[in-house]
Amino acid sequence: MTDLRGPRTRPFPRSNAIDDSMAFLRNGYAYGERRFRRLGSDVFTARLGGRPATVMYGAEAAAIFYEGDRFSRAHAMPTSVQHLLQDEASVQALEGEPHRHRKTMFTRMLEPASIDELVRSFDSEWSAACRRNAGRTVSLYDVAVDTLTRTAVSWCGIPEHAVDLPELAGAVAAMVDRAGSFGPGNWMARARRRGVERWAAELLHDVRRGRLDIAPGTPVEQLVLATEADGSLLSEDVAAVELLNVLRPIVAVSRYLVFAAHAMHHHPGQRASVAGDHEAAVRFANEVRRRFPFFPIIAGTVQRPFRWRGHDFDPGEWVILDLYATNHDRRLWSDRNRFAPERFEGWSGDPNTLVPQGGGDAATGHRCPGEAATIALTARFAEHLATEAPFTVPAQDLRISLRRIPALPEDRFLVTFPGRS
Ligand code: HEM
Repeated sequence: MTDLRGPRTRPFPRSNAIDDSMAFLRNGYAYGERRFRRLGSDVFTARLGGRPATVMYGAEAAAIFYEGDRFSRAHAMPTSVQHLLQDEASVQALEGEPHRHRKTMFTRMLEPASIDELVRSFDSEWSAACRRNAGRTVSLYDVAVDTLTRTAVSWCGIPEHAVDLPELAGAVAAMVDRAGSFGPGNWMARARRRGVERWAAELLHDVRRGRLDIAPGTPVEQLVLATEADGSLLSEDVAAVELLNVLRPIVAVSRYLVFAAHAMHHHPGQRASVAGDHEAAVRFANEVRRRFPFFPIIAGTVQRPFRWRGHDFDPGEWVILDLYATNHDRRLWSDRNRFAPERFEGWSGDPNTLVPQGGGDAATGHRCPGEAATIALTARFAEHLATEAPFTVPAQDLRISLRRIPALPEDRFLVTFPGRS
């Protein structure tokens, strides 16, 4: 597949606009698909924000992007996104041995027994949320953010008295909600993030100084004891960034919970399949991750030169992998716009086809280490929906615009919890 010495070929087709930034803002998740279709190619070049980019999609492109250490994330995302979603010193900013060493910390933290613990914590927080909201009509997105913040805090081993839960929930949700925006909303979210980073660094400092007790084996304890590749302890600021790298994405699963409820509402027949069949619940969760929009793209800069399809990619070149288009690639998914969890029966499991959380291998590349946790939480929520019918869905605007990144149903999915009897 990767042709390192093969002949050069014609250049990739080029978007004929001077700059595609406006087209990206106008089309959102559909930007790539429209260009791929119009140019008749799964790779094209364009200018985005004045910068030349190669945009690509599909399983072969995902393998090129995620395997073989060809790309780094340095200078790959605008700072407005980078500062909200990761940060300079985080695992995502590392490459080579330092990256693999830091990544091991995440994979250990997210081992199967630990994910079972996370789901148990979610179950009890979800029951509490149903009780707290009895008789009320509320946005399921807001309930999910609150529930998953409590879940993440308790699973991480953070004592409740050491955290301002509503502030943490609001700040962490804003990091995701505002990552796609520019201007004051984005700046406010970045200011809030700095506040949460200070809180996390102080928390870890107190644990290291013995002023705060943490249960052994919890993620916070693992962060406190974590080392760099050279054996030195992780600094408190870096450990704080990585604590946010656990809290923020667990809360971000709230979008998939909303999308799961949206799918169950439109496909009530799925209840019967999911109830009492965990494998069916996992297929349902995977179809939610495939079908609904979350991360539109991921960008990298070439760190090691290579030739692919006869084209030389030189260090520093900017390449964008379209995750949304790959999850909707008609070469991979028949009837791609239909919500059909059964497509995952007997699925090959090729790591570069279902890529809402990246491609390749999580242990060695930048693929998300939280994928199994995300699937487990979404599948568990689907089981709650299928067996308990915990709320009704009042009339509202359920449309999901592909122009807004990150997407949510227009009315944030209002639900009515039954009253106390
Ligand atoms: C809502 C569900 C989630 C989505 C859509 C998502 C998406 C992604 C994507 C697309 C990447 C790849 C970034 C890249 O290629 O540079 C990524 C990386 C990452 N994710 Fe997730 N994620 C989710 C949940 C989680 C969870 C639950 C955790 C941890 C508890 C987590 C922690 C991370 C970390 C630490 C990285 C950086 C990995 C690296 O650079 O090696 N994510 N995520």
